[in-house]
Amino acid sequence: MHAQRRPWIVGVSGASGTPYAAAVIRGLLDAGEDVDLVVSRAARLTILDETGIGFRDAHWREDLAAWLGMSAGGGAAAGFAADALDRVAYWAAGDLAAGPSSGSYPAKGMAVVPASTASVAGIALGLSKDLLQRTADVTLKERRPLVVVPRETPLTGTTLRHLVRLDDAGAVVLPASPAFYAGAQDVQRLVDFVAGKVLDVLGVPHTLYRRWSGELGGARRAAAAEAAEGAACA
Ligand SMILES: Cc1cc2nc3c(=O)[nH]c(=O)nc-3n(C[C@H](O)[C@H](O)[C@H](O)COP(=O)(O)O)c2cc1C
Repeated sequence: MHAQRRPWIVGVSGASGTPYAAAVIRGLLDAGEDVDLVVSRAARLTILDETGIGFRDAHWREDLAAWLGMSAGGGAAAGFAADALDRVAYWAAGDLAAGPSSGSYPAKGMAVVPASTASVAGIALGLSKDLLQRTADVTLKERRPLVVVPRETPLTGTTLRHLVRLDDAGAVVLPASPAFYAGAQDVQRLVDFVAGKVLDVLGVPHTLYRRWSGELGGARRAAAAEAAEGAACA
């Protein structure tokens, strides 16, 4: 008998920061996890703006493959497990009858990444105006882990109050604030730092960033040594 599929749900809302979503999805798939993906209507605009990819419900597999840098047939071309895309289920944001809209649908939890201030408000107030918000509400009511990754800056008092409500309700508010102590030498490493912190909250193992070793400058020296080794091998 097959073990029941129990995915992590990734909700991508329409805030700037789609690379954070891509890094979280990649990290979950790399760890062998199943992923259910919900992309809000506004997120199609941010994906288009930030990647040039027009994300389509009917062609989500090809569009996701392009976004994550995989081949649509599987993923091995970009170093992914061959079955990586087979472990993704996609649900249209307007489909309020979709599996994740019910607490009885098996799921481990959810990350809303990036989280727009509108989705922060909608989740905090329980509006459930689309599948992303409904799924986040379900995740909270089922007491499953919910990570919300706002990107906006500066923040209004209203958004700050919504974020406190989310924290009160049991969500982890994890702002997209990359740290500079992990030796990042490029933008992707900064993105991966935030994605790694999301996976830490979900308890999913990863090597997306260098952890603090207790030694000042340690990560910077390790990054420089890695770069020198890479240059020597090239
Ligand atoms: C290119 C682009 C970038 C945006 N960036 C942000 C952002 O960084 N933060 C934010 O809260 N909203 C941002 N917005 C506005 C949201 O998309 C808008 O509030 C939308 O209603 C959010 O809907 P959703 O939460 O259902 O995805 C952006 C919109 C566009 C088109």
